[in-house]
Amino acid sequence: MDFSISRWILALLMSLLWILCHIHVTSSEIITANAVVRHNFANKNDTYRMLWSAKVRAAPFCVMECARDIECASALYNKVTKICQGHSVTLGNPAVAFDEPNTQYFLKPFGEHYIGDSCATTTDCWTINTECRQGLCSCLPGYSFSPKTQECKVCDQYDNQNFMAIENHFLSKSNVEEFSPVTVEECIQLCVNRTDYLCVTFEFWLSDSCALQNVTVLDLPHKWFEDKNLAFNISHYQRDCA
Ligand SMILES: *[C@@H]1O[C@H](CO)[C@@H](O)[C@H](O)[C@H]1NC(C)=O
Ligand SMILES: *[C@@H]1O[C@H](CO)[C@@H](O)[C@H](O)[C@H]1NC(C)=O
Ligand SMILES: *[C@@H]1O[C@H](CO)[C@@H](O)[C@H](O)[C@H]1NC(C)=O
Ligand SMILES: *[C@@H]1O[C@H](CO)[C@@H](O)[C@H](O)[C@H]1NC(C)=O
Repeated sequence: MDFSISRWILALLMSLLWILCHIHVTSSEIITANAVVRHNFANKNDTYRMLWSAKVRAAPFCVMECARDIECASALYNKVTKICQGHSVTLGNPAVAFDEPNTQYFLKPFGEHYIGDSCATTTDCWTINTECRQGLCSCLPGYSFSPKTQECKVCDQYDNQNFMAIENHFLSKSNVEEFSPVTVEECIQLCVNRTDYLCVTFEFWLSDSCALQNVTVLDLPHKWFEDKNLAFNISHYQRDCA
């Protein structure tokens, strides 16, 4: 009798201990309200697809800043400088990031398996019209990244700054205009400045040549080629949606 009661008390204590531990874990999750912590970007920094940066008092406020911006998929927070920066994609490749002590990285729930996230196969990429390309979830050729609707799609309106590149691919014989020598940044400006036609894609090759196009891979799928020998160091750029 006594023996079974002490066993019962022991079981009760064990359950209490378990509950306490569990509460401890969930309270640290509550701090990062509706965000997923990614440890692979701790003490790293990357400015790719950065939307904004702001000084905030603590990590939960950084998560809140990101929550307020519909385009924000993820945020980096520096515990020492208090700098919080929002990104429109998930930063999936720590190898291309640089070291920055004291940073923490958070994803909004939709940031998991989102554009930019790391992947092994296309089933790892959950956003509409995406594929796993070179280990990262990317828009399928012909579809534009739309940060506001969080998908890859055919745009109603185009953005005036951002393009996404597909390396070693090009649309053959579809150029409306060519410019050389120019930088990639100048090529982007030339494209968004066109008024006589709608520039939606361009090619940049041999480090200084730019060709603007008014068509996408969806318009001319039979003219989409890979530069298999890497002879031209060419990339195809598709304009984002506004
Ligand atoms: C990341 O690096 C940039 C450029 O050096 C810097 O301005 C920014 O404050 C850094 N971000 C964080 C979160 O530390
Ligand atoms: C594009 O237009 C902007 C603003 O009108 C101008 O400042 C810039 O020089 C133009 N760039 C090119 C490459 O045409
Ligand atoms: C290829 O082009 C990119 C710019 O588009 C440049 O940064 C890079 O250095 C080039 N690589 C080679 C091998 O020329
Ligand atoms: C692209 O521009 C060419 C003229 O350079 C025109 O014939 C063609 O219809 C345009 N295509 C689209 C999809 O706007």
